[in-house]
Amino acid sequence: MPEKEKLLDKIEEIAKNRGFFWPSQEIYGGVSGFYEYGPLGALLKKHIQDMILDYYVMQEGCLAIEAPVLTSISPWIASGHVESFADRMTECEKCGEPYRADHIIEEKTGKGAEGKSMAEMDAILKENNIRCPKCKGVLGKVYDYNMMFRTFIGPGKNKIEGALRPETAQTTYMPFRRLYEIARRKMPFGVIQIGKSFRNEISPRKALIRQREFTQAEIQFFTPPALDEWKNFDEIAGMEAEALVKGSEKTVKMKFSDLVSKKHAKQPIAYFLARSLELFRKMGMDMKKLRLRQHRDDERSFYSSDTWDVEFLSDKYGVVELVGIADRTDYDLKRHQEQSKQSMEVTFDGKKFIPNVIEVAYGIDRPVICIMESVMKEEKERLFFSFPAAISPYQVAVFPLVRKDNLPVKARYIFDLLRKRYYTAYDETGSIGRMYYRQDEAGTPLCITVDYDTLEDGTVTIRERDTQKQIRVHEDVLIDSIQRIFDGEGIESVGNAA
Ligand code: ATP
Ligand code: GLY
Repeated sequence: MPEKEKLLDKIEEIAKNRGFFWPSQEIYGGVSGFYEYGPLGALLKKHIQDMILDYYVMQEGCLAIEAPVLTSISPWIASGHVESFADRMTECEKCGEPYRADHIIEEKTGKGAEGKSMAEMDAILKENNIRCPKCKGVLGKVYDYNMMFRTFIGPGKNKIEGALRPETAQTTYMPFRRLYEIARRKMPFGVIQIGKSFRNEISPRKALIRQREFTQAEIQFFTPPALDEWKNFDEIAGMEAEALVKGSEKTVKMKFSDLVSKKHAKQPIAYFLARSLELFRKMGMDMKKLRLRQHRDDERSFYSSDTWDVEFLSDKYGVVELVGIADRTDYDLKRHQEQSKQSMEVTFDGKKFIPNVIEVAYGIDRPVICIMESVMKEEKERLFFSFPAAISPYQVAVFPLVRKDNLPVKARYIFDLLRKRYYTAYDETGSIGRMYYRQDEAGTPLCITVDYDTLEDGTVTIRERDTQKQIRVHEDVLIDSIQRIFDGEGIESVGNAA
């Protein structure tokens, strides 16, 4: 097995032991599809989430909202989820193990089957003699399985039917009228919502990648109908990406300008694909493993006229969809207008219409594990995560060289100084080598050590995670020095070698 693969084999074990994430409800044997984030993972996830939120609010001028995850069933009847939010499923007739029909077909034949009819899937299973991987039993007839978690809200006779949202999007569409007023009747305008979504997945697996409760960051841009242009498209037109266009078998490198001029995608979709790639690069994702993929007509969601995904080609988990960007047309608002009898029509630029929606739908959990895969490194005795400072759980750690002679007091003083500005860890519970090792394991980019010289002349050591290089700087310029390193100046030009 190649070195990196061996390393990846351990990623879930490492995540568990170091406090990134682990299966939920372990003391009761766990329930598949649910994970918990530990102290490092919760921060890593928060930073990824914030990077997306900050980009869309600060750079794209989106409004941020937050809605309940539990709603009445009405919005999901309107949206079509009650009727159509289903995966094709087959069960082993012997042991009862459930399988997503398209997944097991793809696994066994190497050919995609999403979008095929139930009869076609039955035929493929039969022709290829695909049996239950667990017990070799016969697989039963393929049927539609709705993935919504449904419940009741309230007690007794007055209870109403409810559901946990399977996407945040509908909970952004419902208050559309209010949002339009708050956006001062401007168009296009964007709204971002970050929060939990729930899907009763048939066979949750691959750790954070397919869960039953997960976090989404979904942005809905409300636009006039058939909007072909996007205002800042020129800024990304020259960027290149690997793209698999529908109808083609091969991924090819393409400029975003070509994607549009060859009519594969409209500007708004191309623009947000490019911005998503930029965000993933800043998060430390291995860019060689990213590609754009346009959905085939037979796999696209029922509400979309064109959908593109950014996919991560994981060495451990296979193809992982990180974000889906879809032209949802006026489908959703129209359906809510019909179901709620509330008008969703606007008058803009002298024209009356129901707005169209361009949706950018990120999952937050999948990037966590794909970034971990991208930056995990093994070197001699140490295994570490080379997170960019912007998303590493802790950005800095401080420790005293030894736990005596007032060094901890001084170290705590430095810690108090830094934690006003950075996510800062403090440790004094081991030898210096051991403390460096622990921070490498957590992926902390810089460690600050207070030693006897600090008490004499006010200088401290800064040690860089990736290179293990060390410099000395005066405490008065410590924040400035840390910032310069985070801004990309080489550590050696920031202070004297230690
Ligand atoms: P897949 O085909 O892998 O099931 P999907 O097409 O259902 O994904 P979308 O419905 O487009 O995914 O959801 C938007 C985003 O939400 C995805 O890009 C992904 O990052 C995230 N996501 C969807 N389902 C899950 C899940 N079960 N667990 C974790 N994240 C998910
Ligand atoms: N909102 C897009 C999706 O979750 O499918």
